[in-house]
Amino acid sequence: MKKLSALVILFFLSLSIIHAQDEVNVVISPDGTETISRHIYGHFSEHLGHCIYGGYWVGEDSFIPNTNGIRNDVVEALRKINIPNLRWPGGCFADEYHWMDGIGPAEERPKMVNTHWGGVTEDNSFGTHEFMELCKQLDTEPVICGNVGSGTVKEMSQWVEYLNFEGISPMADLRRANGQDEAWGVKFWGVGNENWGCGGNMTAEFYADQYRRYATYARNYGENRLYKIAGGANSTDYNWTETLMKNIPHYMMQGISLHYYTTNWRDKGSATDFGDSLYFDVLRRCMDIENVLDRHIQIMDKYDPRKRVALVFDEWGTWYDVEPGTNPGFLFQQNSMRDAMVAGLTLNYLNERCDRVKMANIAQTINVLQALIFTEDEKMVLTPTYHIYEMYKVHHDATLLPVAFHSPEYRYGDRVLDAISISASRDSDGKIHISIVNIDPKKSHDLSIRIGEETGRGVTGRILTAEKINSHNTFAEPDNVVPTEFKGAKIKKGVVSVELPAMSVVVLEM
Ligand code: AHR
Repeated sequence: MKKLSALVILFFLSLSIIHAQDEVNVVISPDGTETISRHIYGHFSEHLGHCIYGGYWVGEDSFIPNTNGIRNDVVEALRKINIPNLRWPGGCFADEYHWMDGIGPAEERPKMVNTHWGGVTEDNSFGTHEFMELCKQLDTEPVICGNVGSGTVKEMSQWVEYLNFEGISPMADLRRANGQDEAWGVKFWGVGNENWGCGGNMTAEFYADQYRRYATYARNYGENRLYKIAGGANSTDYNWTETLMKNIPHYMMQGISLHYYTTNWRDKGSATDFGDSLYFDVLRRCMDIENVLDRHIQIMDKYDPRKRVALVFDEWGTWYDVEPGTNPGFLFQQNSMRDAMVAGLTLNYLNERCDRVKMANIAQTINVLQALIFTEDEKMVLTPTYHIYEMYKVHHDATLLPVAFHSPEYRYGDRVLDAISISASRDSDGKIHISIVNIDPKKSHDLSIRIGEETGRGVTGRILTAEKINSHNTFAEPDNVVPTEFKGAKIKKGVVSVELPAMSVVVLEM
């Protein structure tokens, strides 16, 4: 009898061990020291395809409802996600843009060829004043990228004076003559873009010297302090970061940028016509972001252990083949549940590194690459990526809470990835938010979450999931992928149990 009960105990013990192994135990520290800058949730909009023209700008005479030429529906949608900043005018376009062509009476503005993006004629009807009006309507901070590749030091210097000088000066007078009395006080200033490529094909050493010249004459006016961002590396070009950190005095730059696109450059594939293998492959490439960020950060730590220079991840997102029948230079692609996964993962990775990463900008807000919004004439639709930004806005300026857990595997054939990513923060009201991504398209997981000694009074949540890995929204079917209430979380004696569905992004609030 004794022997039997010992066996029974052993049996149940082994069962509980198996259960404990199946359940993902998550421990969240109730205290944190770092703030997740809201600027990590920033955006990038270039003069490319229908991002600016048709996306934001329709002109005052358009039949599409607008305020001073800017679409009302788009402004309303972006205000809902508290868009914290907007990077403009490029991208590659920035290094062939001459800002003086975009001021003064619109009909007198010179035209140019947008050589990078489709070879179309740019009529400069959207320029500095229109961009600043857009930022005002969005209640967002402008991030302006100046021209180093084909512009002069004087040109950049004058743009800053035009934007920011209050007193009497040639540029401030010109601004006033164009209808803007007050200086705008622009803070975030990019000194060139991808200067290793479309921004001038420079070597890192040459760019570092150029940066020093251009940045010197981009002046601070009045109380306004420019936050200057050096044009950074292309994904794994660690030498670029090292050279800039070594050759540019830290007091001359507040940030150094980094671009990483989740793509297979040799065969980008379709945004919606893909199977399990390409789903896995895109998420694997997205997960490389952690390693790429960490290696750049290690280099920055070596030269700047006090973290005075921020890493600014100012272009990121998925890049697929353009939609069939569209202009290849316009980079228009659909956006599916797979993109929502990429957004959820990437934002979690950036939150986790918020001691060094102070700004990030997804490419690009409307109608281009991993867009949040599609427009066509008067129609507008929100993408799954938009919904991630809406769900994650709770992390803006919140305190990062360290998270520890061991992720279960997501297997595809003999390839393996971590299935789950988690990030947590506490906002200024004391509420805790936990964003959880389960990339496994077939397997759900049970989580048990402990947050120190916190007992918590209740837990609510929202979930983004879909029927298929390539589910997406269209003008005809705008609600295929939309967030809904999440009912799979319960709290008991301070432990939150979560039944996390396959292929889902969940944001919990405690
Ligand atoms: O976002 C599209 C392009 O990608 C940008 O113009 C450029 O900076 C990058 O190569």
